[in-house]
Amino acid sequence: MSEVNELSYIVSNDVSTSKTIPHTTSKLGLYLVGITGGIATAISVICISFVSPAFRKICLPYVPATTQQVHNVLQALNGCSGSLIDLGSGDGRIVFAAAKIGLKAHGIELNPWLVWYSRVKALIIGSSSQTTFIKQNLWKHNLNKYDNIVLFGVDQMMKDVETKFMKELRKDCVIIACRFPLPTMNAIKTIGEGVDTVWVYKITKDLK
Ligand SMILES: C[S@@+](CC[C@H](N)C(=O)[O-])C[C@H]1O[C@@H](n2cnc3c(N)ncnc32)[C@H](O)[C@@H]1O
Repeated sequence: MSEVNELSYIVSNDVSTSKTIPHTTSKLGLYLVGITGGIATAISVICISFVSPAFRKICLPYVPATTQQVHNVLQALNGCSGSLIDLGSGDGRIVFAAAKIGLKAHGIELNPWLVWYSRVKALIIGSSSQTTFIKQNLWKHNLNKYDNIVLFGVDQMMKDVETKFMKELRKDCVIIACRFPLPTMNAIKTIGEGVDTVWVYKITKDLK
């Protein structure tokens, strides 16, 4: 090979190598950007459901009941039968506990991820015939057909929710309020103390 030919061989070889490396790198970079972008979007979509309650007129965030609170609710339900609904059911822990003691238990929840989590858990633990999970705003759901109501609410919603109860609940319905009591109704029982306190109320006459 002449010197000139040898040089042109080296140059052409170099050019092809220098073209290949950036090409592979940019493809890898694109994949990485795509993957991280996808993960970031997925995390944001999931987080929005948990953060959005903060922007509602009444902010009711996802704070799951403690084991003691669930225990107190079960104690309050002692002797109760029929149906139950947990207003803002979170991961479904109160619904599952109520189903275990023989109640037909329902959860209503705004956060779709928590609704799907609860539905899948119901399938896994074999309680889907005893439980249902509704994805709906609790303020838009009529409570007339339930025998027992559970609410782990916030102070700012208790007055409005009491008005809703007065309008919709039927005679003998039992209400269990966790952490915050109803402002004007008289509790028939109080169980526990501090943040785990539950107040039990009973509708004694037809309110309509
Ligand atoms: C304090 S957590 C209670 C969770 C569950 N009841 C427990 O004790 O573990 C309140 C739940 O209500 C849900 N929530 C907030 N606003 C709601 C609304 N308007 N309708 C239905 N659910 C709502 C939240 O997403 C959250 O999961």
